[in-house]
Amino acid sequence: MRIGYGEDAHRLAPGRPLILGGVRVPSPVGPIAHSDGDALLHALTDALLSAVAAGDIGALFPNDDPKNRDRPSREFVAAALARVHARGFRPVEVRGVVVLDAPKLGPHRPAIEAALAELLDLAAEGVGLTFKTSEGLAPHHVQARVFVRLDRL
Ligand code: C5P
Ligand code: MG
Repeated sequence: MRIGYGEDAHRLAPGRPLILGGVRVPSPVGPIAHSDGDALLHALTDALLSAVAAGDIGALFPNDDPKNRDRPSREFVAAALARVHARGFRPVEVRGVVVLDAPKLGPHRPAIEAALAELLDLAAEGVGLTFKTSEGLAPHHVQARVFVRLDRL
């Protein structure tokens, strides 16, 4: 088996859409980013890439390339997944944490977990997410940390 780990953070600003795991979460603030700012999918992308030592999201999709502007983050995950498959592995487990002071993400857990499971073709119990506030330490940020476990195809 292989283990991968990824992190991401984005600064939040009023009036921007908050998208986590590809799911739109109603919120007065959202990430400032070149793409859709989906911190959870960016951390997942890096977790997948690190598991097979295939570089990182910035090496694959430089954020100074206009092609990557406003690109849906599921395309980053798909590219990382293709590299995982090419090396003879598949994801079997995803565990993650999102740190966000507000809004509450708990009500959106089923939708976000299901979206990740679908993206990676995993059973429901293959994805487990927890949510934490920063206790006011990072009130204007969203942060995501993700572990993945791969097995051989
Ligand atoms: O950070 P804290 O320990 O105060 O979070 C308590 C609980 O609030 C978490 O275990 C989680 O269930 C929930 N939570 C949430 N959405 C957030 C942050 C925390 O649902 N954005
Ligand atoms: Mg990001």
